Amino acid sequence: MPIRARAHVYEMQPYRAGKTPEQLMQSLGLSELIKLSSNENPLGASPRVREAILSALESIHRYPDGACTALRDALSDFYQLPPDHFAFGNGSDELIHLFGVAYLEPGDALMMGHPSFVRYEASAQLNRATLQRVPLTPDFRLDLHAMAAAITEHTRLIYLANPNNPTGTIVARAELEQFLARVPDHALVVLDEAYFEYADHPDYPSGVDYVRAGQNVVVFRTFSKAYGLAGLRIGYAIGRPDLLDPVERVREPFNVNTLAQVAAVAALGDQDHVARTRALNREGLRMFSEACERLGLRSVPSQANFLLIEIGARCAQVQQRLLQRGILVRTGEVFGLPTYLRVNTGTAEQNARFVEALADALRE
Ligand SMILES: Cc1ncc(COP(=O)(O)O)c(C=O)c1O
Repeated sequence: MPIRARAHVYEMQPYRAGKTPEQLMQSLGLSELIKLSSNENPLGASPRVREAILSALESIHRYPDGACTALRDALSDFYQLPPDHFAFGNGSDELIHLFGVAYLEPGDALMMGHPSFVRYEASAQLNRATLQRVPLTPDFRLDLHAMAAAITEHTRLIYLANPNNPTGTIVARAELEQFLARVPDHALVVLDEAYFEYADHPDYPSGVDYVRAGQNVVVFRTFSKAYGLAGLRIGYAIGRPDLLDPVERVREPFNVNTLAQVAAVAALGDQDHVARTRALNREGLRMFSEACERLGLRSVPSQANFLLIEIGARCAQVQQRLLQRGILVRTGEVFGLPTYLRVNTGTAEQNARFVEALADALRE
């Protein structure tokens, strides 16, 4: 008898990492590659992070602080919330995994918008929960009316990515509050605010307000995006201690490494860097949407650090042409939007190169 893993595991798809930038450059004979495909911060991390990591190198033979005490205290100051209102993950990806393991029983349901961040789906599959995917509205926003109407007695976790990935759209404060009022007590709402720092719309709500109000809401934020620490893997959940407690029970004792912890404290302390990042992004989005208008392309108004652009049937071809010109962007394929490109903003120079290359690729 061959050894078998749990049967439902074979229904899951492994995450297929694309080629690394180095591999792509080598295979295409490029001397440079502009990577605008993973919503990273083109400015990198704050310079303070480097110093913090260098001084922490002396202690990497020790286990990390399993409670993330220094970071917990820094976040507690930052948000003016008690330290027990935070839980940490090896990226918010791990939080998605841990909340699934802690909350979902076979037969429960996980609800999400569609298209939205694909890792929510894996969490449902792993825990043998039913996936309730509720289509976005025609203008690519989470359809909170349809989501509220679709809640059943089995719905345990509801993921709202706000801003949503891959669309960059937001749900506004009033509609979110109406939705929360309709969510029954057996369902936990997770507001995944990975792109929180970029959103500047006056009606954009901060999920932390609902945590403060004691609601059944947990907020995920990350150091991967505006803080520029994607390679270190660190994200955090903000919520009532009783909602975080199940996750504390199932997580590994040292799930967040020492360098990530010190880097996050340093990054949080440099809000000027976040402000520069935000300003650069705003300018990049403006430039991208103007270019789309000029080129006759439809784009989805974005509150994140990326833009979803409708290219049409030749989208994959356009992506390849951009790659030949040294620019890496994503098609919306994994999200079920194969005729769209998702491109994140870069430095001013990278943005200009993208716009020029896109015009060329469309003409070719
Ligand atoms: C909506 C959303 N949530 C979570 C993540 C995961 O971020 P990380 O695991 O790097 O914190 C991403 C990354 O792309 C995202 O777009």
